Formats: sequence, C-alpha cells, structure tokens
Amino acid sequence: MDTRPATTMDAALVDHFVEHFDHHDARLGADPFAVSTAMREQCPVGHSDVHDGFWVVSDYEDARAIMQNPVVFTSAKGARIPAGGKHRSLPPLETDPPDHAKFRGLIAKAFSPRNINALEPKIRRLCGMLIDQFHAKSECDFVRDFAAPLPTTIFVEMMGLPVEDTESFHTWATLINHQAHAGDTAMSAGEAQQRTLKYLADLIEARRADPQDDIMSALLDAVVDDEPIDPEDMLYMVFLLFLGGLDTVTSAMSFMFQHLAQRPDLRQQILDDPTVIPRAVEEFLRYEPVIMIGRGVTEDVELSGCPVKAEDRVLINSIAANRDPAQFTDPEEIDFSRDANRHLTFGVGPHRCVGSHLARLELKIVLEEFHARIPHYSITPGTTPTRHMNQVNGLDSLSLTWTA
Ligand code: HEM
Repeated sequence: MDTRPATTMDAALVDHFVEHFDHHDARLGADPFAVSTAMREQCPVGHSDVHDGFWVVSDYEDARAIMQNPVVFTSAKGARIPAGGKHRSLPPLETDPPDHAKFRGLIAKAFSPRNINALEPKIRRLCGMLIDQFHAKSECDFVRDFAAPLPTTIFVEMMGLPVEDTESFHTWATLINHQAHAGDTAMSAGEAQQRTLKYLADLIEARRADPQDDIMSALLDAVVDDEPIDPEDMLYMVFLLFLGGLDTVTSAMSFMFQHLAQRPDLRQQILDDPTVIPRAVEEFLRYEPVIMIGRGVTEDVELSGCPVKAEDRVLINSIAANRDPAQFTDPEEIDFSRDANRHLTFGVGPHRCVGSHLARLELKIVLEEFHARIPHYSITPGTTPTRHMNQVNGLDSLSLTWTA
C-alpha cells in the first residue's frame, strides 16, 4: 500500500530535490514532507551536489546513531551547511567532547527544569496580554501577533537584553536564520549578524561595568579550564542562545496552530481533556521538527551501505526521520495518544537541546491559555500560510479568524 501523503508538489520537482536536495531552496517549502518521504524510501542516505556536496540522512536509525557519535560525526566543523563565510564555532553547539561539556555546563543550570518552571506565571501573564490585544478583533496574524513576541519577550528578559529592542532582535534573528523573510528590511543576513554581534558585545561590556540579575551577567564570572572564559567564546555562546531562543519556538508554535486550525477534531480533544496537552506538544514536535542539523565526518564510515568519507558533511533530515515508519506507527497521523514518542526534534546525545524545557513549557502554556480564550478558530479564507525553508524552517504568517 502506498502510505505517502498526497502532495501538490510537482512530481518532477520532488525528483529534482531527491537528486539535488537543498534545504535553503524556497521551493522546498511547498512540501518538504513529500521530498523527505521520497528520499527516505529511495535513498535513506543520499548525496546532494549543492553547497559543495553533502550527505542527507533521512532514516531514523542512522540519524539517531549520528547524533550519538560525536567522535565520528563532529560538530566542531560546524552544524550549519554551508558553513557560510569564515567559520567561527558557536559553543557549545559547534564543539566536541570533552570541551563541549565545559561550555554546556555554563548555561545548563539557567535552563534547568527548576529554573524554567519558575517562569510559568510570567509566561501565562504574557499570553493573556497578547491575546487581549487581538481577541475582540476576531482575527490575528498568529505569527506576528503571538508566536513571535511571546518567546522573544521571555528570552529577552531571561538574558537581560533591553526589552525595548525586542522587535529589532526578532528582525535580526529572522534575517540571519532565513534572510528572505524579514519583511521590507533591506539588511542582508551578514549585516544582521554583524549588527547583532556588535550589539551583544557592547551589552556584555555594559554588564561587566554594571552586573544585573540575568544570564549574561552570570556568564561574566564563567571559568573554563581554570581561566576566565575567552571573551570571544562568551560572545558567540550568547549569539547561539540568541539564534536558538528567538526563532525556533516561534516556528514550533506556528506549526502547531496551523494544524489545529485545520483540524477541529484535534482541537476538540484539547478542549475536552486539557491533560492531553503535554502529549499533544510532543506529537506536534515530532510532526514538525523545525531544525535540520549538520555534522562533519572525521573518518571513513559506512552508513546504510553508503561510503561516507572523512571530511564529508552530513545533514540530518529530521523531517524524514521523525516520520520513519520503522520507528513510528502511522507516522503521517497526528496522534496525541502515541506512546514512546522518541522524536529527534531536540536532538539526542551530548548536544541535546539545552532550551528544550523552556520550549516545552511555552508550547504547553500557549495551548492552555489560547484555547481557554479562543476555542474555535480557522485559517482566514483566501489566505495560505507559506513555509520558509532553511536549517530552521517556519511560517511567514498564519492568518486566523474566529467568532468573538
Ligand atoms: C522548539 C524549539 C527548539 C528546537 C526544535 C530546538 C532544537 C535543537 C536541536 C535539534 C539541538 C541539537 C543540535 C545538535 O545536535 O547539533 C539543539 C541544541 C541547542 N539548543 Fe535548541 N531548540 C529549540 C529551542 C531552544 C531554545 C528556546 C534555546 C535557548 C534559549 C535553545 C538552545 C539550544 C542550545 C544552546 C543548543 C546547543 C546544545 C549543545 O550543543 O550542547 N534551543 N536545539
């Protein structure tokens, strides 16, 4: 039986991407799932000739094994494909054990379940304030009015970034992660990156002179190998948090509400029994993994019969792996009752996402608060949410409407 989902993507374009996979190509956004399914079925470990060539790993087992083997699959050569200009590693993401643990240890406590759970009242209050702004209008652009400002504001406060610059932060992160989709701004991704780094460097100096109760100030006392942290390592670590913290949760939230707007039956399950929400969050995370991450290869190795060579690059196609029928029963179904949902959305192994507790808490609270105020909604007729692709993918906009 053909279990592939129906697709509107032209068959020739699916074939093109199977041969020349390019996660930066906007056309892939029309249906990355059709392409990923075809790749998993035809070549679970396939080679793409774009961006100087890289392997694309689309089956669950290989994807998981790669993430758990930092000796053969290094992060120190960059998690981004292509690396883009002069490569400067982002610690801890783009470092390997044993150095990796030293950097990760510096931020892990701030993002521990205990510290993150303390943010719950603040996140609920912010949800309420944002919903107040559009509730009576019976419509909103969910991405612009809710999914972007909510995690951005929480993150900005945690880090000790000036709240009045929240909108600029979001624009810069958007430009860096997926340049073509940051509205009318004329800035390039490179300029946005330079501007962000300069801004963060100035702020680190300001905190050095006048420490506050925030993550940035706490990092100033950080010690690595008995020495104060190298200022450049600190800057790029804060920059990684900036990139990881601003855009990813916005994308995950937007995808969740796109599916819920199209599926009243799933919404009804949440309304009937809100205790299903943590499972719903996991299932949406599986269904829409947001990030595809890369590795370098340190020695010749065979992956599903393919000869992968030292110095090659590998992209983990989590979109395909998270829907691998060898791991998930009925993978194309959104099923809140799914047991043992071992998705790869936050990664596994040493680099497992530091921000996962924060992301999960935000997604859970949003499902609770939004449905308590706006239980029934749909995608505004005449609008179509468009997906941007990149290593971080997401929605440009999601127009929702409801009856007040
Ligand atoms: C739904 C939202 C998110 C998704 C899907 C996500 C996904 C991921 C993935 C897949 C990795 C592993 C990368 C690898 O194996 O190379 C990762 C690592 C990381 N994430 Fe997230 N992330 C999210 C939210 C966040 C947030 C909110 C923060 C911080 C505020 C954050 C900070 C980090 C950091 C610092 C790492 C590097 C960890 C290490 O290398 O040890 N992430 N994330």
